[in-house]
Amino acid sequence: RDLSRVHSVAELADMARRRLPYFAWEYLSGGAQDELTLTDNLDGFSAYGLHARAMVPCHPPATARAVLGRVLPVPLLIGPTGYNGLLHRDADIHLARAATARGLPFCLSTAANTSLEALVAAVPEVNLWFQLYAMGDPRVQNDLLRRAAAVGSRTLLLTCDAMVLGNREWDRRNFAKPRQLAWRNTLDVLRHPRWLQQVMWPAGLPGMGNLEPYLPLNERNALGSMAFIGRQMDSLLDWDKLARLRDQWGERLLLKGVLHPADVERAIALGLDGVVVSNHGGRQLDGAPSSLAALAAVAPQARGRLSLLLDGGIRRGSDIVKALALGADAVLLGRATLYGVAVAGEAGAGRALDLLTQELVQTLNLMGCTHLSHLGRDNLWERRR
Ligand code: FNR
Repeated sequence: RDLSRVHSVAELADMARRRLPYFAWEYLSGGAQDELTLTDNLDGFSAYGLHARAMVPCHPPATARAVLGRVLPVPLLIGPTGYNGLLHRDADIHLARAATARGLPFCLSTAANTSLEALVAAVPEVNLWFQLYAMGDPRVQNDLLRRAAAVGSRTLLLTCDAMVLGNREWDRRNFAKPRQLAWRNTLDVLRHPRWLQQVMWPAGLPGMGNLEPYLPLNERNALGSMAFIGRQMDSLLDWDKLARLRDQWGERLLLKGVLHPADVERAIALGLDGVVVSNHGGRQLDGAPSSLAALAAVAPQARGRLSLLLDGGIRRGSDIVKALALGADAVLLGRATLYGVAVAGEAGAGRALDLLTQELVQTLNLMGCTHLSHLGRDNLWERRR
């Protein structure tokens, strides 16, 4: 299908749902437990309306913004998501190419299928950020940091909201007996031959590229690497360890998964460059506040003291406007570009980025806003309390 006829991220999501076997769709779209936070992330944006000023001449609005020392054409980047290979072979490379072609950063996950080195070899121009899951074995963690620096990554995101895994029932249902695909899944895969060809053929499910060097020989396969990362994630991560990481990592360091003003204060005290206000796309603590509500709560604390990024629930250009109006410097995309990559690789991810950018520009024009820096709380009104 001609992607220029796809007119929204919601439409891309719909196409992805039809294209993927159900267990892959659940992995992509699902949230933890009763999906309260997942739903609240989306509702958080619809709780606000936008004010418009009349008859401001419509020129292309100034959408460029400096984010952590680099000017981006729009304050947008592709955030870290693990195991994208379930959606498309080499999905990380497709995402990185789509972002790079538009002058936007791409953040690679610790749990990515593509290694740091392979990603940079495939997309040498990439503005690469790296997301770290704290590792129980300091040798593994130190080596990951060394490799990230060696390939030129200057921005590190430490994810702090996944010290234990959220209650994802679909995950336990679908991958409970990993060596044995449930019959339902086998039939489902056979009913999706395009996915089979796009993901599984001929090599099967991909391993986790970043962790491959540390895997025992008998675990060097997709399921082994999943088990390995489960064992490695540091459930004893604390502020002292973050302080040591601050000393160790000389480049930009952000904490991802922050929702409370007191935690922003601690991040500032440690000299972090920024925080990502995030509830992991509703996949960790079910009941955590929506990303936008948390942003509103922490923005006064953060203003001018460190960079404030947000992710969770961005599906429209107007969502970006609302996040910026509440004090975010930029937003990260999770599912929006993943829907695109599941549909059509790089072109699909690019379509998601272009749709969001077009909607951002159109929204600003309709509001009579000529410059991103003019956005503030005054531009918002509360649709419901
Ligand atoms: C994620 N997220 C995530 N975060 C992270 O720090 N490391 C990771 O490996 C992953 N993996 C991951 C996989 C998938 C399939 C999803 C959907 C999400 C969370 C991600 O970075 C981000 O916080 C959310 O995706 C943002 O919410 P939206 O944009 O998906 O609504």
